[in-house]
Amino acid sequence: MAIFKASLGAGSFLRMPMIEPRSASTPAAHQQPVLVPIRSIGPDERERIAKHLLALDAHDRYLRFGYSASDEQIRRYVDGLDFERDELFGIYNRRLELIAMAHLAFAPEGQPNECAEFGVSVSKHARGRGYGARLFERAEVTARNADVRMLFIHALSENAAMLKIARKAGASVVRSGSESEAHLELPEPTLDSRMSEIALDHFAEIDFQLKTRAKQFWAFLAGLQEVRRGVQEARDKSSA
Ligand SMILES: CC(C)(COP(=O)(O)OP(=O)(O)OC[C@H]1O[C@@H](n2cnc3c(N)ncnc32)[C@H](O)[C@@H]1OP(=O)(O)O)[C@@H](O)C(=O)NCCC(=O)NCCS
Repeated sequence: MAIFKASLGAGSFLRMPMIEPRSASTPAAHQQPVLVPIRSIGPDERERIAKHLLALDAHDRYLRFGYSASDEQIRRYVDGLDFERDELFGIYNRRLELIAMAHLAFAPEGQPNECAEFGVSVSKHARGRGYGARLFERAEVTARNADVRMLFIHALSENAAMLKIARKAGASVVRSGSESEAHLELPEPTLDSRMSEIALDHFAEIDFQLKTRAKQFWAFLAGLQEVRRGVQEARDKSSA
């Protein structure tokens, strides 16, 4: 089943996978699927990543890293990220803050390169919108195109949301006490899976550029407002 699903392309070029449902208040008949732009995060965004991870509370850090990582340990994790080898994916809000991110870690030099590991975190206020599942699908596409055959997820057995994402994607989950290990077999890449990745990257980049311009424009308007206020105050003073 997993292979069948993935062979359709976990991000098939012909089938847009990165969708989230509209709000529950919208009648089902009028619901339109919305694409979730998922962008590849670059090394100049370490501070953004740190901000997102440092905002996780102790329990979330425990679920994400398997221990209650301190601020210092998170900083060390962020500083040690290898953007050449691994892939990091992010979902941004309008202020260009990361509200969800995933780390697809490829095997280090000398290890079997057909395996990769997936880790994810979604900001508390953005949970339940499907971002965790969408990031997993996005990572699947990249892993498959990088000739990875086995995608691993280490999760605590109590982590119902993460295990649900893995199971729904077709992964086998083996529970060993308080910890669980899930793995998903990936099929070989195809032209379709490669085209899918290009299209998804392109879409996310356009979204990011638009958000960047909108943010710059709002800053410009705020500056203009300040100038106007200053001029008005000066006029008021001189006419008093
Ligand atoms: C795990 C995590 C990434 C899930 O993110 P999310 O965006 O809320 O997940 P989704 O919205 O994609 O939900 C995935 C599924 O889990 C279900 N789910 C969400 N929260 C759940 C919960 N607390 N208990 C049970 N199921 C839950 C959703 O209903 C959804 O199922 P559906 O597809 O049948 O509707 C998020 O909770 C998180 O960041 N946790 C802290 C870090 C962590 O645990 N990382 C994973 C270890 S690597």
